[in-house]
Amino acid sequence: MKLVKTLMAVGLGAAIAAVSVAQAADKITIGFSQIGAESEWRTANTNDVKAAAEAHNIDLKFSDAQQKQENQIKAIRTFIAQKVDLIGFVPIVATGWDNILREAKRAKIPVLIMDRDLTVSDDSLYVAKIGTDSYTEGKKVFAWLDNYIQTNNIKPRNGGDKINIVILEGTVGSSAATGRAHGFDDALKASPNKDKYNILASQTGDFTRQKGQEVMESFLKSNRDDIDVLFAHNDDMALGAIQAIEAAGLKPSKDIVIVSVDGVKGIFQAMVDGKANATVECNPLQGDLFFTTAEKILKGEKVPKSVFVEEGVYQADEAAKVFPTRKY
Ligand code: AHR
Repeated sequence: MKLVKTLMAVGLGAAIAAVSVAQAADKITIGFSQIGAESEWRTANTNDVKAAAEAHNIDLKFSDAQQKQENQIKAIRTFIAQKVDLIGFVPIVATGWDNILREAKRAKIPVLIMDRDLTVSDDSLYVAKIGTDSYTEGKKVFAWLDNYIQTNNIKPRNGGDKINIVILEGTVGSSAATGRAHGFDDALKASPNKDKYNILASQTGDFTRQKGQEVMESFLKSNRDDIDVLFAHNDDMALGAIQAIEAAGLKPSKDIVIVSVDGVKGIFQAMVDGKANATVECNPLQGDLFFTTAEKILKGEKVPKSVFVEEGVYQADEAAKVFPTRKY
């Protein structure tokens, strides 16, 4: 009896194993290389990718590049060797991808880009990009700022004739940094108020809170009483800068107007606390669109080369009302 039970158990176990092998064989396998965890936004993006992979029943091979392009290239090479069905990645910087993408193309593995843009010699090296429109975000930052300064009749703190702006830039060479910088510059140059502004200093803070704080400290050391506006390419750097501004004895959002990009909970809290003025949303919840697009590609359907996610603009006076609805 004991032997029969054991044999039945073995038989059942084998059957279950066979079913899960069959299910696994049906599953799409996607290799995904993420940049790292430099910001609150990035953590939300990673969590969303993982949750969306589960919802889409995808076998996800996730790799964290710890802020290094070489690690992303290694991960993509591993995905090619593993013969995944599709490769997805967030390009930490825009250039330097041609060779590895040629390897993926030779292996006939489609590539789908998320969030940041890349520049390659041949556009057929990737199928499509979904995600962030950094250039438009930069334009929205200036539009909000110009309207805020003019509507509130804000004057230069040093009694001069120009509003002095300092900028904390994102990672050097990333499309998120160059797009936001170009969008902001183009909107500034096109504005009838362009002569009322001066870019006093602009330096990278690498999208991190720590570097945002350090660079803001150095801006304040040389120009404490001249800075009227901080534009940070992301909320994390703005949050670091707020600490530096307070440590310098100034009031963030009052002495220095603060506008940044992302819309994470941290900046909403700062706006509720009266320490930041506005955030231009950059939506990290891109997982569902990514896997829906990947499934279409693998079914042979045509997809648009570029699709952007929906993004809004939020300012301090509406922060308390909007905060409870924020998902990241
Ligand atoms: O590429 C999107 C940017 O990268 C986000 O603005 C930033 O927070 C992140 O690190």
